[in-house]
Amino acid sequence: MTSQPRLAILGLGSMTGAILTGLLAASVTTPDRISATTRSADSAQERAAKHGVTVHSSEEDPDANLTAVREADVVLLGVKPKDIVATARQIAPALRPETVVVSVAAGVRAETIAAALPAGQPLVRTMPNTPLTVGCGVVGVAPAAGVTEEQRALVESLFSGSGLVVPVTEEQLSAVVAAAGSAPAYVFLLAEAIAAHAGHLGLPPQAAEAMAAATVKGAGTMLVQGEERAETLRRAVMSPNGTTERAVATLQEGGFERLVAEAMDAAAARDREMGEELAG
Ligand SMILES: NC(=O)c1ccc[n+]([C@@H]2O[C@H](COP(=O)([O-])OP(=O)(O)OC[C@H]3O[C@@H](n4cnc5c(N)ncnc54)[C@H](OP(=O)(O)O)[C@@H]3O)[C@@H](O)[C@H]2O)c1
Repeated sequence: MTSQPRLAILGLGSMTGAILTGLLAASVTTPDRISATTRSADSAQERAAKHGVTVHSSEEDPDANLTAVREADVVLLGVKPKDIVATARQIAPALRPETVVVSVAAGVRAETIAAALPAGQPLVRTMPNTPLTVGCGVVGVAPAAGVTEEQRALVESLFSGSGLVVPVTEEQLSAVVAAAGSAPAYVFLLAEAIAAHAGHLGLPPQAAEAMAAATVKGAGTMLVQGEERAETLRRAVMSPNGTTERAVATLQEGGFERLVAEAMDAAAARDREMGEELAG
């Protein structure tokens, strides 16, 4: 295969849009080697204009998914978890035996998807997060049985220009959901809370939001530079008897770590629960 894979994206929405933005920015492949689909014609038009790739809708062409996958080296399944099995079943007759099917869906187990595909079709489950859009994402990659080393490397290459690729087992994907897939929302919630209360403390709303965003970015950048671990960086801000020490004590006395752990447990549990619900 050439170094630039042909890619079909079924369900070009928020998540696969983030992946697409990241892989085009990293020149993993070119727009002319990508064919994408959506359900509605309006979405297709909007997404084609946004990403500069061909997008057909299943509303206008019921065979759009089938057509998209015929020449593909990799098929990204980007529809909602409840639609994964029907989509896999629909494209099964058009898949070439060596085409790698990649799911980004939370919850839906490899065995559930594999049962809808031709026997032995290479299948990889992944759990990405949306910061892939800005080259700072995370993706857990769990190949199902029968995926060759070359196919695994091909799938990882789709993401490696736009984020941290973490090889995991399928059992570990619920933890990746909790720690990465869903986690940008926890950080956004923190930014919302900081900005909202900065407003109450007297800052204009626009300045408060800009300040919260810049602080999250700055702290995140210090962390990923990796010179110091999070705890060391935190302690460096906490002068004895200073403002940060009092703020952090308030968070910890209020159960901050416990709440984060409970939120992550809830995300992981929901992922496993979806696996049960969608097992058929
Ligand atoms: N959002 C996240 O942060 C995140 C993180 C990790 C994993 N995921 C996973 O990513 C997947 C998509 O989530 P999302 O948030 O990106 O949802 P989304 O923005 O709603 O995207 C879903 C896409 O699927 C399209 N679609 C629906 N039925 C279709 C069909 N039959 N044929 C072709 N396209 C079809 C939709 O088209 P229309 O726009 O026309 O309806 C839409 O473009 C889910 O499985 C989710 O578990 C999401």
